[in-house]
Amino acid sequence: MTVLEYRTLPEAELDHALDLHYIVFLGKEPDDDVRKLHREILAHCTRIGAYEHGELVGLLGAHPLSLSVPGGELPCAGVTFVSVAPTHRRRGVLSGMIAELWRQCAAAGQPLAALWVSETGIYGRFGFEPATRSYTVEIDTDRPLALRIEPDDRPLRLVPPERAPAVIGSRHAAAREERAGRVARDDFWWRTHILPEADGENDDLTPVRVVTIGDPGAEPAGYVSYRTSCDDEGRGTVQVGELEAESPAVAAALWRYLTSIDLADKVRAWGRPLDDPLLRFAADRDQVRIVQEFPALWLRLVDVPAALAGRVWSAPLDLTVEVTDERLPANAGRYRITTGPKEHGGDGTGLRAEVTRTDAAPDLTIGVQELAAGYLGDIGAAELLRAGLVTEHTPGAAARLERASRTELLPHTTDEF
Ligand SMILES: CC(C)(COP(=O)(O)OP(=O)(O)OC[C@H]1O[C@@H](n2cnc3c(N)ncnc32)[C@H](O)[C@@H]1OP(=O)(O)O)[C@@H](O)C(=O)NCCC(=O)NCCS
Repeated sequence: MTVLEYRTLPEAELDHALDLHYIVFLGKEPDDDVRKLHREILAHCTRIGAYEHGELVGLLGAHPLSLSVPGGELPCAGVTFVSVAPTHRRRGVLSGMIAELWRQCAAAGQPLAALWVSETGIYGRFGFEPATRSYTVEIDTDRPLALRIEPDDRPLRLVPPERAPAVIGSRHAAAREERAGRVARDDFWWRTHILPEADGENDDLTPVRVVTIGDPGAEPAGYVSYRTSCDDEGRGTVQVGELEAESPAVAAALWRYLTSIDLADKVRAWGRPLDDPLLRFAADRDQVRIVQEFPALWLRLVDVPAALAGRVWSAPLDLTVEVTDERLPANAGRYRITTGPKEHGGDGTGLRAEVTRTDAAPDLTIGVQELAAGYLGDIGAAELLRAGLVTEHTPGAAARLERASRTELLPHTTDEF
């Protein structure tokens, strides 16, 4: 029987690790610029290598992230570069790397782990569950965008991507406070994940463009990042990356700008929040269409009590919750969640909770995976109860947990990693 060993992948093995990653992900080898970008990103991650007789057979990277949660933020391992050699699949390599990840999260004080999946069937068994969802929206631009509100008329400005973080960083930070599920961005993150010169994902797209709106010299009231592409017949598409606005009128002005770009007949906005105001102020829903809903950020509560105590709650709660967790038995058990008086600080609306272990009879039994679904404010315990995924021992307990978990705006993530 072969023995697999899991240890930190040293910097000297970065190129070897990338070679393995490109074998696993089947597409053609990226060009030098993209490889350089991937190398820099992987160097920035903590890295778990799986070795058999000293040979690298598996790789898992984790970004040290700070994720916005309701009323605050928490350290979070952002899992990426998951790759197992095709010769070693289904032999427990991924399971071993994830077990090692949990040890590293505990040592680093990260109560959360998150990832984006390329296949949805893999990560539920490890306790991950979609915690934010998104729409892809398409807008026909063969006619002016029909709006039910008056757009803001302040000037628009193109900003060179290398200067954009300094210009739009404060608007992004403000937007981040409003919604859970968003990653704190430093210069490295802006450059490598949000505004990279080339990301290797789609060769047909131009480099990213950034446009702001606002009074000259003042902080922007909103911004949009996008790329464009052109098909063989010369028909252009505008692919929206991110659009943030301080008010509906500002958002309307930015959508109107995107839909008025010459030579393009379609705007495709990937990853819009499910409660995007665009869907309300667009006057013609045949023109603005939801073409897809998809799970975005998958979340794992690695330290359940720290995670539950690390967010605020929107309604008073005194509930004993029994959590089941097969992969991380230390998490399993009964917790009493008791909210205190109104929190001061943050937006001032949330309630902090004390979370203590207890032997008392539970009001509700919930798996760690289901707990992650509602943790940031998305799909709550009552909806999961109706789907048979939660067991209620005290009538109304699931509804109470769901009510307290809700957030004013839905959680939302555009930081793909
Ligand atoms: C997906 C991948 C990481 C799985 O690694 P692995 O070492 O084969 O996984 P393990 O042997 O530890 O399997 C763990 C469990 O996941 C299941 N599993 C693994 N890959 C799966 C898949 N693609 N779909 C469904 N289930 C899968 C296994 O059956 C096993 O289930 P069990 O715990 O019920 O027995 C690996 O096959 C790989 O690198 N694939 C190509 C790249 C990829 O898809 N990466 C993930 C991107 S998000």
